[in-house]
Amino acid sequence: MENFKELLINCTYLIASFLFIFGIKRMSSPATAKNGNLVSGIGMLLAILVTLLDRHILSYELIILGLVIGSAIGAVLAYKVEMTAMPQMVGLLNGFGGGASALVGMAEYYNTSLHGFPDDGGKFLVSVGLSLLIGAVTFTGSLIAFGKLQGLVTGKVVKLPGQNPIVVLLILSILGLVGFGMADPGNLIYFELVVFLSLVLGVLLVMPIGGADMPVAISLLNSYSGLAGAATGFVIDNNMLIIAGALVGASGIILTNIMCKAMNRSIMNVLLGGWANTAESGSGDTDKKDLVVKSVDTEEAAMLFSGASKVVIVPGYGMAVSQAQHAVKDLMNVLEKNGTEVRFAIHPVAGRMPGHMNILLAESNVPYDKLFALEEINDDFKNADISLVIGANDVVNPAARNNPQSTIYGMPILNVDYSKTVIVVKRSMNAGYAGIENELFYMDNTLMYFGDAKDAVTKLVNELKSMNS
Ligand code: TAP
Repeated sequence: MENFKELLINCTYLIASFLFIFGIKRMSSPATAKNGNLVSGIGMLLAILVTLLDRHILSYELIILGLVIGSAIGAVLAYKVEMTAMPQMVGLLNGFGGGASALVGMAEYYNTSLHGFPDDGGKFLVSVGLSLLIGAVTFTGSLIAFGKLQGLVTGKVVKLPGQNPIVVLLILSILGLVGFGMADPGNLIYFELVVFLSLVLGVLLVMPIGGADMPVAISLLNSYSGLAGAATGFVIDNNMLIIAGALVGASGIILTNIMCKAMNRSIMNVLLGGWANTAESGSGDTDKKDLVVKSVDTEEAAMLFSGASKVVIVPGYGMAVSQAQHAVKDLMNVLEKNGTEVRFAIHPVAGRMPGHMNILLAESNVPYDKLFALEEINDDFKNADISLVIGANDVVNPAARNNPQSTIYGMPILNVDYSKTVIVVKRSMNAGYAGIENELFYMDNTLMYFGDAKDAVTKLVNELKSMNS
């Protein structure tokens, strides 16, 4: 009977794991992502249900109370939080994931200490050590990341004098304490110190990361939260937690890598506060006064669009800020009605989180087949009559291609400057997130159409409609 129960539990875990992986696979395309989310969610529900039946639960009431309170807070936050604040929300969730792993690890450690550690407790104690270390680092690191993005903690690079040796010393001390804890398992103080020092380590690791790099840090912390979960899975001997943790750990690190590549940065450069001097360097401000900025009003912009046969729209962070995605969809409709071909060029780090632009455009029902990734469309900008840049800045900055002194030199950009005309919608000449000047705005073929993105695009749509009627 006991064997049958175990078989049933493991089979259910296997099915849940399959649903996780299948769901993640479906998330790789916007067309199937929603369904993928649902499939993975069902996997998680299965995993939770079977775990509740498997474990020797002492109080279902407490678990249900926790579920209700946690779900209520989560649901309210998910509905209320602005799309632009999503990275810090994800950061907070990672932190809670890491914290929960560390708490479970610690509870199991205390529990086992009451009943005496097994003779071959080495694997258990190593897992406890890793679960506490990674979980606690993820917890405080994510809270600092949240604070930086929310403006509660300075977004600047903050380093202690002798920061790197201190960090190395801390890591060595933590590993040493795990060693002492294994040699003398009855003495709880070692693992308690591991938790304390790991909490400090989390703060020290994230404080030097600049605000602009925070999404990368959050993705990395996401990976840590998975690893902490996997380590805790070993502590409590739960295959599901090991598998789910490993999936989160691996996908987080892959995403981190993709983001670093899209910015032409190494992970070490991000972690060590690489863009520390962004504001001071690479701005190329020197001969700005000789440069001329040409601007257009709504009427002039509409005239240009009415004569264009190929238009590429490049959305960026500003489209998200002003929630212009529905107006942009209206623009696509009116241009297409006019016989103009409209495509969207999506930079992998446009906005403030991976897939930011895809989500917004999907929300306004722009068909997926009109969205083109950087490598799919970059060679085709030269054929575009107009590239319409809406609230994007760094991802279209030619300095990344032309200026070896620029901090973003080497970052792949969308080649909008190769198109016949570039129209840039933004409110001012202000810099983007990297804090650097953009020579695109001064080029001969560039026209600035100043205004809030939603407002400006709506006016343009109305003007085009009145021209057509
Ligand atoms: P940014 O370079 O940050 O530029 C956004 C521009 O939008 C600003 O220059 C701003 O100019 C304009 N803007 C803001 N509010 C606006 C509004 N209401 N209406 C119109 N325009 C508005 O954005 P990007 O081109 O999307 O590049 C993203 C940046 O974030 C890159 O540096 C990237 O490396 C970094 N980053 C992104 C990620 C991910 S995963 N997406 C991760 C890490 C870092 P005005 O103030 O003049 O309007």
